[in-house]
Amino acid sequence: MPLVTTREMFKRAYDGGYAVGAFNVNNMEIVQGITEAAKERNAPLILQVSAGARKYAKHVYLMKLVEAAVEDTGLPIALHLDHGADFDICKNCIDGGFTSVMIDGSHLSFEDNIKVTKQVADYAHERGVVVEGELGRLAGVEDDVNVSAADSSYTDPAQAEEFVSRTGTDSLAIAIGTSHGAYKFKPGTKPQLRLDILAEIARRLPGFPIVLHGASSVIPEFVAKVNRYGGSMPDAVGVPEDMLREAARSAVCKINIDSDLRLAMTAEIREHLYEHPDHFDPRLYLTPARDAIRDMVRHKIVNVLGCDGKA
Ligand code: G3H
Ligand code: 13P
Ligand code: ZN
Repeated sequence: MPLVTTREMFKRAYDGGYAVGAFNVNNMEIVQGITEAAKERNAPLILQVSAGARKYAKHVYLMKLVEAAVEDTGLPIALHLDHGADFDICKNCIDGGFTSVMIDGSHLSFEDNIKVTKQVADYAHERGVVVEGELGRLAGVEDDVNVSAADSSYTDPAQAEEFVSRTGTDSLAIAIGTSHGAYKFKPGTKPQLRLDILAEIARRLPGFPIVLHGASSVIPEFVAKVNRYGGSMPDAVGVPEDMLREAARSAVCKINIDSDLRLAMTAEIREHLYEHPDHFDPRLYLTPARDAIRDMVRHKIVNVLGCDGKA
């Protein structure tokens, strides 16, 4: 099976009350860890690549790694550009074989966001590629951009409805209280997602797939493990998994997870090198690191996304 778009995946996810996981990939071990879990659980999958990942690994390497994963697993996998900043990077990825791109105009004015999203959607659709737009601003860190909680803003449901009809975007990322990175919320606070805003958007856009970014849960045992083996991460609070599960039962069809994988991988590598200070063959610490990614993705598929067995 070749790379697929998210069109069919999202339709089935919407009707089935689950979400598909979109996991960020930067190297071979990450691709292998994620796809091993998806294969084991027979789950549909989106592998996504940021501008930073393209800079780190190069487009062609990531493309070939994901093609290898498709060949190896036989799973329906979509290859998606995460947070495309402008038309040019989206065009580059569309021309370079991606099946889905995000144009992130969330920092622009409403009209400018509509303009660039429509430009990307028109170009993508002529080539059989699907598009994710974003409206509303998440707090947190992505690439080199740091959005403070004060500068973040929830998505306005009426604007969401207008945005979708004027741009032709195939899915929409919304801001309802999730946040990028490991340091999402103040330690000791109980984060709340605005599921009421999600419900109003779903009411206005029946059948339309919604995307949640910044959906890592920053599981405390992994932060503790990093710190047990020489790390010094401050306390971090992520998005409660039960709220994500609830969102996945409604219009949310794609949930983005990166930080939880980074944390699982780093915790494992730190532990390994601490326990085996004489090891210097990268395969010795990258094997358990890859397994940690697999275990984290399995946990998300089964307990958060609900896409177990849905490939
Ligand atoms: O939302 C951003 C993703 O976590 C990707 O992060 O831009 O550091 O690759 P990155
Ligand atoms: P996290 O930082 O919560 O994993 O979010 C990742 C993301 O939204 C990628 O686009
Ligand atoms: Zn994101």
